[in-house]
Amino acid sequence: MSHAPSTIEITRPDDWHLHLRDGALLERVVPATARRFGRAIVMPNLVPAVTTVERALAYRERILAACPAGAGFEPLMTLYLTDETPVSEIAAAAKSPHVAGVKVYPRGATTHSSEGVSDLTERGAVLEALASSGLPLLVHGETTDPDCDVFDRERVYLEETLSKVIERYPALRVVFEHITTLEAAEFVRDSPARVAATITPQHLLLNRNAIFAGGLRPHHYCLPVLKRERDRRALLAAATSGDPSFFLGTDSAPHPRAAKEADCGCAGIYSAPVALEAYAEAFASVGALERLEGFASHFGADFYGLPRNTGRVRLIAEPWSPPAFEGDGESALRVFLGGEMLRYRVVD
Ligand code: DOR
Ligand code: ZN
Repeated sequence: MSHAPSTIEITRPDDWHLHLRDGALLERVVPATARRFGRAIVMPNLVPAVTTVERALAYRERILAACPAGAGFEPLMTLYLTDETPVSEIAAAAKSPHVAGVKVYPRGATTHSSEGVSDLTERGAVLEALASSGLPLLVHGETTDPDCDVFDRERVYLEETLSKVIERYPALRVVFEHITTLEAAEFVRDSPARVAATITPQHLLLNRNAIFAGGLRPHHYCLPVLKRERDRRALLAAATSGDPSFFLGTDSAPHPRAAKEADCGCAGIYSAPVALEAYAEAFASVGALERLEGFASHFGADFYGLPRNTGRVRLIAEPWSPPAFEGDGESALRVFLGGEMLRYRVVD
């Protein structure tokens, strides 16, 4: 039995993969992230998508306007890559102090990806521009071949597309987002330091049985979908290994209850209100809480070439249970792990 610490203090963390939406939903969800995290990489899959620096800067203003006063939260913006993105837009993004990366959604892979890239290997000029600028390419790594088994889509995309792009552009910096498989974890571990990965709390805590536990659980459906227990264990080993190529990215992706509990429910798990505690739970489960700070607060900033945060956050061992929902009725948001017992609580 390892002795679990009763209190742990870490540098204020950052979230290197986050969906904040827009409009009324944006206003509802920004405070949960701004309360805990210093910065977040904000995903650009709005409608219309954030395809230009101009749109990214306007979106950034809307996010800042929705932040509670004095939050000291900094949104780091991303551009949504399309088949038409010109090299000049990549150059403009690289120059902007507020744009931290360019996101590739394989066309049709997930929520609001219909304007995404049809074949990344064909986007040579843009990949050259990214490689020479140093701006990272943030990759949703799943093949969109409808005949490919949904549980194999990450592995196949890695084999057929991502590994080739990484090999072909030796200066390209890549974040393989929300990895879900043992194969992805091994690939990143064995790649040079210019290749990193984010890992979500749900992929550290749950395997695919959670989607079918006692019935269909739409609130455990996200993309890439939860995988097998061997994958969860490999991800947990990677996250707690101290390897700086793995860092925190919640992929918190709110959808109103009615859009999740539906005939064709949306993919996405809303974890922002409990994210840090959920990661603490995962790390504590293998007696590795002393590795949480690197993963949550150091490695992402180092990869993005940004200073580490200076604030501190304290967690204490005090069991608690988050609320199942935020809000009421059809627009309520199901909170990840709501109603479950968590062993660590953040001291506000
Ligand atoms: O589960 C997911 N939700 N995966 C994604 O890739 C997109 C996200 C969303 O925007 O809802
Ligand atoms: Zn995402």
